[in-house]
Amino acid sequence: MIKIPFFIAIIGFMYWVGTQNNEHPNMEEMQVQKVLEELGEASSPNYPDMVLPGATAEIGENIVKIGNSAGLDGNFTRRQSKHFVCTSCHNIEKESAYLNVEDPQERLEYTAEKGLPFVQGSPLYGIVNRVSFYNGDYEKKYGDLVDKARNNIREAIQLCAVECSQGRPLKNWEIESILMYLWSIDLKIKDFNYTQEELDIIESAIYEGQQKEKAADILKSKYLDHAPATFINPPENYKAGFTDITGNPENGKLIYENACLYCHMENDYSFYELDNDKITFRQLKRRMKIYDQRSFYHVNRYGTKPMAGKKAYMPHFTEEKMSNQQLEDLRAYILESAK
Ligand code: HEC
Ligand code: HEC
Repeated sequence: MIKIPFFIAIIGFMYWVGTQNNEHPNMEEMQVQKVLEELGEASSPNYPDMVLPGATAEIGENIVKIGNSAGLDGNFTRRQSKHFVCTSCHNIEKESAYLNVEDPQERLEYTAEKGLPFVQGSPLYGIVNRVSFYNGDYEKKYGDLVDKARNNIREAIQLCAVECSQGRPLKNWEIESILMYLWSIDLKIKDFNYTQEELDIIESAIYEGQQKEKAADILKSKYLDHAPATFINPPENYKAGFTDITGNPENGKLIYENACLYCHMENDYSFYELDNDKITFRQLKRRMKIYDQRSFYHVNRYGTKPMAGKKAYMPHFTEEKMSNQQLEDLRAYILESAK
């Protein structure tokens, strides 16, 4: 009798189990929106105009990442903004393991693990799967400008180009190019976590046309179709901070390195430089108590104002993007590092 060592038999068995589950290997890469449409949901208004001359996904990707692109005539356009690119404030990767809740702590840990920055804007990954923009309190910041942008992704991009990025308006072919690119970073079936039962329902809906509505509901329950936004205030007393919260300096270090240093050291988006020197932490500590933008409490909750004549400014963090606990964690890290 041929003897097969036990561990080889086990590996062989696991391989067999693996191949059995791979009946539909392409399902994972499927686009969530396309699947939803197959299951009977309405088409998305966010699809690009595919016949507009001059628009390509490559141009869109360049604008998002480097701020401009050569058009089809080969000539480079003027940079969209002197101060920023879209990726200054938005990740283009998935930022969170769960896309149906906004949990700033989960987002901090997830982005830190993936080596991504922790920034003020929502990720552009999956943005074409959303139906409304500048939600919640953003109306307070941008007033009437939000009306046009709330249910229109083209206007939302344009608002961001001019107001958030402090740059020139985008041409139509540039916006359509950006949309083409954004549809390459839309949500895929593999981005969600499922129970086996849910997976079975989705599979039989896709491949056998059964229980389509139920499958669509499951998919829609896995992600938010809008990013909620709540503006909150810094603590009343900057010196005392939030006295009911105990800060965790280790967590604060993640925020300092992946948010503050991303803009204030690595990318030099600001004249204001931050680094890991004790002197810097001592200055942050001293300024913490000042009731204006020199205090990190103040800038994180109110941002800085873009000046007339278009200067760089710092967007604030909403409650969904940074919690008060995290603000206190940052404080704890600054105080500890200033010692
Ligand atoms: C200086 C920072 C900054 C820059 C640069 C920037 N954005 Fe934004 N953007 C924001 C913030 C903050 C919001 C607020 C809403 C959110 O993202 O949750 C926002 C919102 C958006 C929204 C609506 C998102 C939503 O769910 O409400 C879109 C779309 C968008 N930006 C696209 C872009 C594109 C495309 C560029 C580059 C041309 C860009 N942004 C550049 C900060 C920025
Ligand atoms: C998306 C980029 C970005 C992020 C993230 C960011 N900042 Fe800023 N910050 C800026 C810009 C731009 C300015 C405006 C200053 C300028 O005009 O150069 C600014 C201004 C400031 C100021 C005001 C400086 C002054 O004296 O006027 C402080 C303080 C500050 N940031 C601290 C922080 C801290 C602390 C963090 C981390 C929680 C942080 N920033 C995260 C971009 C950013």
